[in-house]
Amino acid sequence: MAVAATPKLDAQRIRSDFAYLEEIVNDHAVAYLDSASSTQKPRQVLDRMREFYEHEYANVHRGVYRLAERATEGYEGARRTVAAFVNAPSERELIFTRSATEALNLVAYAWGLDNLGPGDVVVVTELEHHANFVPWQFIASRTGASFRHIPIDDTAELQLDALDALAQEGNVKVVGAGLVSNTIGTINPVERLAAWAHEQGAIMVVDAAQAAPHRAIDVQALGCDFLAFSSHKLCGPSGVGALWGRAELLEAMSPFNLGGSMIRSVALDRTTFNELPYKFEAGTPAIAEAVGFAAAVDYISAIGLDAIEAHEHELVEHALARLAELEWVEVYGPPADRRAGIVSFNVEGVHPHDVAQILDWDGIAVRAGHHCTQPLMTRLGIAATTRASFYVYSIPEEIDRLVEGLHKVKRALG
Ligand SMILES: Cc1ncc(COP(=O)(O)O)c(C=O)c1O
Repeated sequence: MAVAATPKLDAQRIRSDFAYLEEIVNDHAVAYLDSASSTQKPRQVLDRMREFYEHEYANVHRGVYRLAERATEGYEGARRTVAAFVNAPSERELIFTRSATEALNLVAYAWGLDNLGPGDVVVVTELEHHANFVPWQFIASRTGASFRHIPIDDTAELQLDALDALAQEGNVKVVGAGLVSNTIGTINPVERLAAWAHEQGAIMVVDAAQAAPHRAIDVQALGCDFLAFSSHKLCGPSGVGALWGRAELLEAMSPFNLGGSMIRSVALDRTTFNELPYKFEAGTPAIAEAVGFAAAVDYISAIGLDAIEAHEHELVEHALARLAELEWVEVYGPPADRRAGIVSFNVEGVHPHDVAQILDWDGIAVRAGHHCTQPLMTRLGIAATTRASFYVYSIPEEIDRLVEGLHKVKRALG
């Protein structure tokens, strides 16, 4: 892998930025292994938000007084930072949303309602998080378009040989895919899917919620049309996310939410809409959260996305090797070289909720459930998994503790 020469990140030093990681639960240090759900927040991000609230806060794009200008500069500066983070050609193409979910709904509603109809086909993957699945299923049914999926094989990788048959089903208009599966960590070949989508005359919508925190993202190199991600999974606050979209598509789209800020003029008989990106940002946005989002982008960029990817690769290799020692544990998903820092598994005969509960006694936080991927669960023939996921502050010792904890689970319930 090209990441071999990347400078290593110092997870032990990074851990000192995160207050929670210093806590003790039942005489055990905490092991936070649920970063795919949401990450912990470093002091640098929290300090920046506090400073903004104390000295720079007012509503944005409204006041002419100096504080309002400072707030607007903070918010628009955040947009520049987040846009540059995914190599957007223009910051006008970067829309702040509440979350990745809202970003994907924005595209499904504002693009889908006006562009889909009978005879059209929307294609998503069987691995998709509900956030990039349900909005498309819903808008397809509202518009009369068909809703289809790209199936996965037994290692949970996409079966790209199904694409030819999908192309025969009608006019493929949308292809939606996550760059990284939140449940089993599969890294999807999005560049390939984007090329295929464009051959069909479709748009390519990428859910990068699990990718943007962990590997360098370049929307231009991916060749996609829309890309959604959120702040809370990359060390930033919750309540803010981002949608990048190609300007010509965004310009042609109807607005999604309507109200203040997104208008140019309003009269009794007619309203005209603001230019990009404001057309898609109705009402007072999450101002300090956007500033915190940018501080988080700065924080992880200073660590280095390549170093983060390499660190998580080492962790996932370690986790897969250690879990392979337990013949009563079934691990789902591809080998380490085609997976990000996420491992889903089941302990024979024990419900994942019980696994998570017992691990919690020793301060180990993992997620148990269907992870908002019920179609994937159905394909795997299970209802739920236990999931461990890693980030910049994760260390191999935590994985070793997870394995010890699983022995305890087995002794107690297996
Ligand atoms: C792959 C994926 N897409 C979308 C989402 C939704 O993100 P948000 O919480 O920002 O709405 C998640 C969150 O778990 C996710 O893992």
